[in-house]
Amino acid sequence: MNLFSPGILKFLTVILVAGMWSCNQSFAPTDLASEPLIPLPVSVTSDGNLFQLRHDMDIYIQADHPAVAEAGQYLVSILRPATGFDLEIKPTPIAPTKGHIYMHLDSTQSDLGAEGYVLDISDSGIELRAVKPAGLIMGIATLRQLLPADIESQTIRDIDWLIPTGTIRDYPEYEYRGAMLDVARHFFPVEVVKRYIDYLSMYKFNRLHLHLSDDQGWRIEIKSWPLLTEIGGSTEVGGGEGGFYTQEEYQEIVEYARLRNIMIIPEIDMPGHTNAALASYPELTCDGEAPELYTGIEVGFSTLCTSKEIVYEFITDVMGELAAITPGDYIHIGGDESHVTPLEDYIPFVERVQEIVQATGKKIIGWDEIAHAQLLPGTVVQYWENADNAVRAIEQGARVLMAPARKAYIDMQYDSTSRIGLHWAAYIEVDDAYNWDPATLENEIDREDIIGIEAALWSETITNMADIDYLAFPRLPGHAEIGWTPSSMRDWENYSHRLAAQQKRFDLMGIRYYPSDRVPWVK
Ligand code: ACM
Repeated sequence: MNLFSPGILKFLTVILVAGMWSCNQSFAPTDLASEPLIPLPVSVTSDGNLFQLRHDMDIYIQADHPAVAEAGQYLVSILRPATGFDLEIKPTPIAPTKGHIYMHLDSTQSDLGAEGYVLDISDSGIELRAVKPAGLIMGIATLRQLLPADIESQTIRDIDWLIPTGTIRDYPEYEYRGAMLDVARHFFPVEVVKRYIDYLSMYKFNRLHLHLSDDQGWRIEIKSWPLLTEIGGSTEVGGGEGGFYTQEEYQEIVEYARLRNIMIIPEIDMPGHTNAALASYPELTCDGEAPELYTGIEVGFSTLCTSKEIVYEFITDVMGELAAITPGDYIHIGGDESHVTPLEDYIPFVERVQEIVQATGKKIIGWDEIAHAQLLPGTVVQYWENADNAVRAIEQGARVLMAPARKAYIDMQYDSTSRIGLHWAAYIEVDDAYNWDPATLENEIDREDIIGIEAALWSETITNMADIDYLAFPRLPGHAEIGWTPSSMRDWENYSHRLAAQQKRFDLMGIRYYPSDRVPWVK
């Protein structure tokens, strides 16, 4: 029989079309409401069609609004590597015809808040609108996850870029959805911090707290006190060479984060956790003697000399320079574990430091111990260990940032076999990291007292990006969902499948995650 007889050809065509159909079935889900988004949006309605992103589309943006233009550029930069599409940005004063992406601000939607957005996806176009540019950035994070996981590829993928249609109307539960990276115990270069910011931006985090100083290292250039970095930045835990950010590098990080709606919150930890500063400038100690640089992981042995005037001149200079390169609202003053600072010295010290920071125009965040002091209005207290301190803060009218070590410290080991991490607070498996509610964790801390949550990554045991990946993933996305999605909508069973669906993205991004057996991974 002739292989190319009309009958055979017809038969082969039927097989081929049926095969394509079934492929399309498996690769093109048409139910927007069952897309495995993290964090889960507040409201999704599906209308059962498909939108296809094509190379000949344009990204229309509201004209004459630089921040909207930046959001448009950000979207293009996300779409370009994997699609190869060089989508053009076209400012427009009015809504464009269908068949394109259109991003604009819409002040009539004020109930969405500063970071809420509406994403309208039809078979002929996408409209993204928000009250503020921050909301557009959040909507872009959603759009990114709605595209096939291949969008995370850094090389061109020849696939159909299909998205199910419908409407997402979404806004965050908490205004502060943070992560902390300790760059003091081990130093991480700018590129590592930027990659961490990339991770945060995928899951709608909006704060990165950088722990810039500790006993083992001082990591930010202060031009008026150059030995802080020259001496204090010269080592790290384990005795490696350490490092620091120049002010220009720090500003590069700030700007990279800003474009992703992430505010950098710098921390200078005081009066304890200051050995690196004391080793650099012995006049900051009470006996005037410089201690040795420290490369171990004990805590609670160092203190600035709270009775010396030079200490406050030092802090004024440091805070002045830091505030000048920090556009965000807050400076974090640490205040934890000052075990060798008597409380009667600690309290007036914290009060004076608050005044110094306030004079720079910034608001203050501090670890929960600072609530022993009289707090200035607007101060945020970061609960990590002691609920009594959180209560002290609340009684003074302060808001609480929830970072309970036993839930939200992502440097804790998953279990006793984890290759890195500590376990002084707890072993925290992926489900334990997810299964808690900031508003009910402590009886004394109510929803209205809470500004948000923070996942803290301390770096005693981590030295490189692979280590960061292993501890942050797959716990980090869960903390994002706790911060964004109302607790009434959160459920581990449902979440665990959405997390499993992130696996291909992790793989394409080269994230070396911990393959926890609590997660129903696809492979
Ligand atoms: C802390 O973990 N010492 C804030």
